[in-house]
Amino acid sequence: MMRLLAAFLLLAGLWGAGKDTILLDTDSGLFGDDGAALVMLLRSPAQVAVQSITIVPGNVWAPQGAEYMFHILDLLKRGQITVATGADGPLIHTAAMARESERRWGSLSYIGAFAHDAAAVIPAPGSKLTARKPRRDAVNLLISEIERRPGQVTILALGPMTNIALALRMKPEIETRIKRIVFMGGNLRVAGNASNAAEFNFWFDPEAARIVLRSRIPIKMMFGLDICNLARIRKPEFDQIANVRSPLTDLFREDLGNRYPAFLQKPDATGYLWDSLAAAYLLNPDFVTRSESRYIDVQTTWGQFYGSTVPLDRRVAPHATPVTVMFGLDFKRVFAIYKDRLTKVD
Ligand code: RIB
Ligand code: CA
Repeated sequence: MMRLLAAFLLLAGLWGAGKDTILLDTDSGLFGDDGAALVMLLRSPAQVAVQSITIVPGNVWAPQGAEYMFHILDLLKRGQITVATGADGPLIHTAAMARESERRWGSLSYIGAFAHDAAAVIPAPGSKLTARKPRRDAVNLLISEIERRPGQVTILALGPMTNIALALRMKPEIETRIKRIVFMGGNLRVAGNASNAAEFNFWFDPEAARIVLRSRIPIKMMFGLDICNLARIRKPEFDQIANVRSPLTDLFREDLGNRYPAFLQKPDATGYLWDSLAAAYLLNPDFVTRSESRYIDVQTTWGQFYGSTVPLDRRVAPHATPVTVMFGLDFKRVFAIYKDRLTKVD
């Protein structure tokens, strides 16, 4: 009996060895790129273990984001994964600031949750509300998971970095205990997609992104618009996934087909893998063909350039670690991973 138990424990250890432990911080809408990222990770059990999911305001407010995550988890029969909300909004940025910015400097391309009612929670189309409530302690959850596994946790940050910044401010010691942060956000040499100057995740909470970029987290990997603009999907790629029918691909079809970028209504539309690219990197990094190491920061002076990515003045953050900024990719390789995981049968 004891031998059997020992063999079982050894096997369990070997099974876990080499797997990346992931804390997923997301601002998921109905499905989009955040939802696809979650599916890709959960359908890759040999490579990654998603420890818990923390929800941050961004595309939608956190209670709505949690509802959408619960819906996807239910479709995947993974309802036991912890989901927690944290910050109720960005550190400084508000809807009023965004409105005033539009009045002064012209319209913004995308303002995410600032366009929505923070109190409203609606179910996924064709479903009832899941009736599940997230935990409310995302910031403490991040801290405790990192402290429980020093040097082992990868944070995959797919939205504004508010929860993560709060965790770093509450417990600065965790900075060096995080294995690495892989994030979608920022734009170095290309235009923004929220304002002309700034990418959405950085723009929604510039002060939070600055805290993370100035931190001592040992490894920072950035999937900004420079690489994400090269990972476009059009109707033929959409069809390859939407035509493989399952409850999951039906949700994909509804969201990317009828909402954003609305391929079923606008067959010439273009979509982007964005967060799914960062998730794919955790499964097989070989699709990245070019990257550069840079010290970067975020513009936090409110104005036309609020949230834009700028070089870091290292004198103000001498302990900041550099960021590996991704610039080039092999699209066929990464799309193969995306398609495989989204169309997989559980
Ligand atoms: O700029 C792209 C980012 O904002 C992604 O995280 C995506 O989810 C969008 O809302
Ligand atoms: Ca996102």
